[in-house]
This record gives sequence, C-alpha cells and structure tokens, in this order.
Amino acid sequence: MNPAADRRVAVVTGGARRLGRQLCLSLAARGFDVIIVYRSSDHDARTLEQEITASGARARALKVDVADKRAVAAAFAGIGAREGCVDLLVNNVGNYNPQNVTALDPDVWDDTLASNLSGAYYCCYGALPLMPDGGSIINIGMAGLEGIRANTRGADYYVSKTGLLVLTRALAAAYAPRQIRVNMVSPGQLENSVDLPPPEELSRWVPMGRSGTLGDIAQAVQYLLDAAYVTGQNIDVAGGYRL
Ligand SMILES: NC(=O)c1ccc[n+]([C@@H]2O[C@H](COP(=O)([O-])OP(=O)(O)OC[C@H]3O[C@@H](n4cnc5c(N)ncnc54)[C@H](OP(=O)(O)O)[C@@H]3O)[C@@H](O)[C@H]2O)c1
Repeated sequence: MNPAADRRVAVVTGGARRLGRQLCLSLAARGFDVIIVYRSSDHDARTLEQEITASGARARALKVDVADKRAVAAAFAGIGAREGCVDLLVNNVGNYNPQNVTALDPDVWDDTLASNLSGAYYCCYGALPLMPDGGSIINIGMAGLEGIRANTRGADYYVSKTGLLVLTRALAAAYAPRQIRVNMVSPGQLENSVDLPPPEELSRWVPMGRSGTLGDIAQAVQYLLDAAYVTGQNIDVAGGYRL
C-alpha cells in the first residue's frame, strides 16, 4: 500500500466475512485502503483482498487474534511501518455464543470479553498513535444497550457490548480535542442473525417488520464518516428492535 498523504487507511477487525466483509467493501468503494483483520478465515480474507484489489482499490489481509495484546501491538507496529497511518478503525469483532447465565462456561466468558472488549481496546491502543487528527473509530455494538436490563442468555456478550459503549464514550471525550471521533453503530436483528425469529414472528420483535441488511449497517458507518460534529454516540440501526 501507498503511505502517501492522499491515501486513507481503514482497519476492520473480523473483516473477512459477513458484516465485516460488507464494511470492507463499502469502505474500499469510498476510497480507503482496507486492512482486513481476521483470525481463522484465511480463504475468505484472501478472496476479499483479491476482490477489492481487482476493483482498483487497495486491501491487505492481516491475520491477528485481537484477544492477544502482543499480537495486536505487533500488527499495528507493522501497519505503522507499512501503511504509515490508520485513519479509521472499525472494531467489528463480536463473538456471540449464547448460554444461560446460570450455566455460563467461564472459558466462554473469558473468550467473549477478551475478543469483544479487550480486543477492541488493544486495537484502539495500537491505532490511536497512528491516527491523524480528524481520524475516526467506529465500534460495532448491539441494539438496546442504553437501558441496561436483564439478559439471562448471552450475558457475557451483553457485558462486552455495554463495556464497549463505555469505552466508546471515554475515548470520544479524551480524543475530541484532536478531532478524533469515536462512535458506535449497533445492529439489531440482521438478516444473517443466528437468533432470527421465523418471518411470521419477526414483526413482533422488530416494529419495522423486517430484519436489517448488511447494507443498512454499512450506510450508518458511512453516515458517521461524514458526520464531522458527532462523537461519543451510539446509533441503533435496528428497525425499532429493543426500543
Ligand atoms: N449478525 C447479527 O445479527 C448482529 C446483531 C447485532 C450485533 N452484531 C454485531 O455485528 C458485528 C458483526 O457480526 P457478525 O455476525 O458479522 O460477526 P461474526 O460472524 O460472529 O464474527 C465476525 C468475525 O470476527 C472474527 N473474530 C472473532 N474473534 C476474533 C479474534 N479474537 N480476533 C480476530 N478476529 C476475530 C472472526 O474471524 P475469522 O472468521 O477469521 O475467525 C469472524 O469472522 C459483531 O460485533 C456483532 O456483535 C451482529
């Protein structure tokens, strides 16, 4: 990739598949050089790298376990040496392995918090020194975080996303003087959700009567990139789910 000043670099974690893939394509179309961070999906990451490159944009697949802080530090040192900056970081990793809180396996708890919350922090810590004034961080949350309530299934996931919102606001306040904006986009029931209710029941859960598309989420990310005076905010993109 070209570290020239006219190029902008976006890092997307969990970027090889599903929502992350859509975000990488959307950011490449906007002109970003995209670094596709992935953990195990080598084939998907390489295929996406080739697809973006074939479109005339730039992409680099980078295998990093974001739960490993030394690996994350090494990855951002490499990005600093190679690309020279990070204009946008999207923390998209969000493992969801729902278990009832009465029997939640401590190993699942550890893995969820390590990947979804600590991993996002390690990436922020690595990216911020490489971020020019005016850069941006977008964390991917989940709809309905604002009024904390009981979630007996997947408590580890909800804790990780609530923590990520708190981190979003702390970093937003701390970095506002440098015009670095930190926001969150929170999907509801996406069309690829593992929890999607059957079509006939969907409108009971989602007032707008349809599941969200990956494009709906990418659109909100694009909005935040243009919203130069918006920081520390969490936008539910969820058709009214969990309102
Ligand atoms: N899908 C939904 O309905 C929905 C609803 C609400 C919120 N969200 C949020 O939207 C985001 C994307 O959701 P999704 O369903 O597309 O995600 P996903 O398929 O569960 O995960 C995306 C990628 O995260 C990567 N990953 C997991 N742990 C990692 C680690 N420690 N280091 C590096 N990469 C890691 C995996 O990469 P590899 O494949 O390379 O291992 C995986 O492909 C998440 O934050 C999720 O919480 C989704």
